[in-house]
Amino acid sequence: MSKVTVVGAGNVGATVANVLAHKDIVNEVVLLDIRGDFAKGKALDSWQQAPIDYYSTKLTGTDNYRDTKGSDIVVITAGIPRKPGMSRDDLISTNAGIVSSVTKSILKYSKNPIIIVVSNPLDVMTYAAFKASGLKPNRVFGMAGILDTARYRAFLATELQVSPKEIQAVLMGGHGDTMVPLPRYTTVAGIPVLEMIDRDKLKAIVERTKKGGGELVKLMGTSAWYAPGAAAAQMVEAIVKDENRIFPCCTFLNGEYGLKKIFLGVPVKLGKEGIKEVLELKLNKSETKLLHKSADAVKSVMKTFDKMNIK
Ligand code: NAI
Ligand code: 2OP
Repeated sequence: MSKVTVVGAGNVGATVANVLAHKDIVNEVVLLDIRGDFAKGKALDSWQQAPIDYYSTKLTGTDNYRDTKGSDIVVITAGIPRKPGMSRDDLISTNAGIVSSVTKSILKYSKNPIIIVVSNPLDVMTYAAFKASGLKPNRVFGMAGILDTARYRAFLATELQVSPKEIQAVLMGGHGDTMVPLPRYTTVAGIPVLEMIDRDKLKAIVERTKKGGGELVKLMGTSAWYAPGAAAAQMVEAIVKDENRIFPCCTFLNGEYGLKKIFLGVPVKLGKEGIKEVLELKLNKSETKLLHKSADAVKSVMKTFDKMNIK
C-alpha cells in the first residue's frame, strides 16, 4: 500500500485526490496547498464522502510539507491555470518558480518518490521538476497525453455514436496546439478509424482536439479538472498496481524518435518504477515532421525556463 501526496488542492488537485480515494488502491492521500486550511477542508469533504461511496482511503489536508513525509508518489498540480486568451506557455513566469520550489520541499521529506507533474506549461514544468529533484528520469514525468487522447476519443465517440470505451488511440508531442493526434493508430473496437469516418470529419476532430483545452477555458473561464484529475489518478493506479499500462506520457527522451534532452509526450509503459519503457512507433515522414515541430515548440519554452535560472 502506498502514500500519495497531491500538491495543489485546487480544481485539478482536489479531483485527483477524490478520484484516487474512490479507487481504494492506496492507504493514504495527503492534499497540500499554501492556501491556509483550504486543503484540510477539501480533504475533510472527500473523507465525508467515504461512508456514502464506500472507500477506506485515508484523506488528510495540510499546508505543511512535514505531513508529506515518506510519500511514494507525488502529483504536482500547484500553480495558476490559464484564463481566456492565455496560452499554456503564458503561465511559465508564475508556475516555473512554484513547481521548482514545491519539488524541492517534497524531496526534503520523501527520498525517492515518483513525481507526476500536471502544472502548465506541462512539458517544461516536468523538466523543471526533474531538474529540481535530482531524481532519475524514469521517476519524473507529466500528465497530458491521457487527457488529450481522451478528448480525441470522446469527440470520435460522439461523432460515430459509439461508446467511448470502443475508441483506442494514441497521441504524441507537447501539451499544446502542436500536439500530434495519430489517426493511423486510432481504432474503433479494433477497426481502423478511417474505415468508419470520412477524412474531412476526422481532420476536424483532430483540429478540435488540439484546441480542446482552450475550448473549455472559453466555456468556463478557467481550465478543465474532471478529465485531467481522472487522468492523473489513472497514472497513479498504473504505478501502484504495477500494471504495465501503455499511456502517452510526457517523458525524458534521449535519442528516441531522433529527439534528445527533451521532455515530450510519447507512449510509455507505466508500472511500479515509473516509466519502464519508451515505445518507439514506426512513424511515417509526415507524422515525424509534426512530432519534431512540436518538439521545437517545447524546446523554445525550455530555453525560456533555462534563462530564468531558477535556483
Ligand atoms: P487552481 O487554481 O484551481 O488550483 C491551483 C492550486 O495550487 C491553488 O489551490 C493554489 O493555492 C495552489 N498553489 C499555488 N502555489 C502553490 C504552492 N507554491 N504550493 C502549493 N500549492 C500552491 O488550478 P487548477 O485548475 O487546479 O490547475 C492547476 C494547474 O494544472 C494549472 O497550471 C493548470 O494549467 C494545470 N492543468 C494541467 C493539465 C494537464 O493536462 N497537464 C490539465 C488541467 C490543468
Ligand atoms: C487542459 O488541457 C489547460 O492543460 C489544460 O485542459
